[in-house]
Amino acid sequence: MVPSPVDNVLDTIGNTQCLQLQRVVPDGHARVFIKLESLNPTGSYKDRMARSIIEEAERRGDLRPGMTVVEATGGSTGSSLAFVCAIKGYAFRVVSSDAFAQEKLLTMSAFGSTVELIKSPTGKITSDLIPSMRERAREIASQDGCYLADQFNNQDVLVGYESLGRELVEQLPGGIDGFCGAVGGAGMVMGVSKVLKSTWPECRVIILEPGSAPIITEGRAGTHGVEGIGIGFVPPLLDKKSYDEAWAVSEVEARIMCRRLAKEEGILVGTSTGLNVVAAIALAGRLGPEKTVVTVACDTGLKYMRGGLFTSE
Ligand SMILES: Cc1ncc(COP(=O)(O)O)c(C=O)c1O
Repeated sequence: MVPSPVDNVLDTIGNTQCLQLQRVVPDGHARVFIKLESLNPTGSYKDRMARSIIEEAERRGDLRPGMTVVEATGGSTGSSLAFVCAIKGYAFRVVSSDAFAQEKLLTMSAFGSTVELIKSPTGKITSDLIPSMRERAREIASQDGCYLADQFNNQDVLVGYESLGRELVEQLPGGIDGFCGAVGGAGMVMGVSKVLKSTWPECRVIILEPGSAPIITEGRAGTHGVEGIGIGFVPPLLDKKSYDEAWAVSEVEARIMCRRLAKEEGILVGTSTGLNVVAAIALAGRLGPEKTVVTVACDTGLKYMRGGLFTSE
């Protein structure tokens, strides 16, 4: 059905399509579906949580007209918050880094936010990068009239992602046997898992992290190149009761999968999505035919065209 016209651009968030992968899943595996969150207005599922962070704070009266929203972000959450703040008339101050895609930094500016960068000496995401960005954001937010979005501690994030879970329940009424997703702040997997496990208690939920930064699986931080995940500490929103297993996945395999998804499935996505699909196929192999596995296209590959994702090995 064609969606009806809307008068608020925020209502274009969500209701994304769900696609069954056709070519990258080997025979004898479960069906693998991917929820195309890359179709959201800023090209990532973060639009859902940016809206819930802002609107829940407004509802409580913590965020009022004339205030400035502040956040430390690699740029996906930042792009989404910049979009929501532009529409709602809040100033937005972002602390980010040159370790993240230039496309994201430019997107935040395009929506009118003020972007401050913490330099990464290697251009990589080191374990102390996000903590130092957060420290600077806290410093800015201590000024009067500021509201710190604090995505890694903010329960309002989960409200936004529950809608993603509810859409999956509607789109796949026959049931979902397994769900996997890479975690940064862990909001997406926690929000979706809450809905899936309350609908199908046997649904197996797997959280994923980069193999080179296995803080959840091995307690060891590390340097990696997968934007949005592997934040250098165990995310406070991660609740052990909401997932069954944690896997560390090779980021080299994830990048190879991104190229295959583009060429073989016509799906243009970033590295965290490549990681999601590598794991979804492994889970589909374990569960076997007649089962259904779901994962998520976190964001669009258009955000990574200037980096080496689609051009180097
Ligand atoms: C591209 C990308 N993938 C995955 C994630 C992880 O999502 P979450 O923070 O909900 O765990 C993020 C979060 O910033 C992201 O930007």
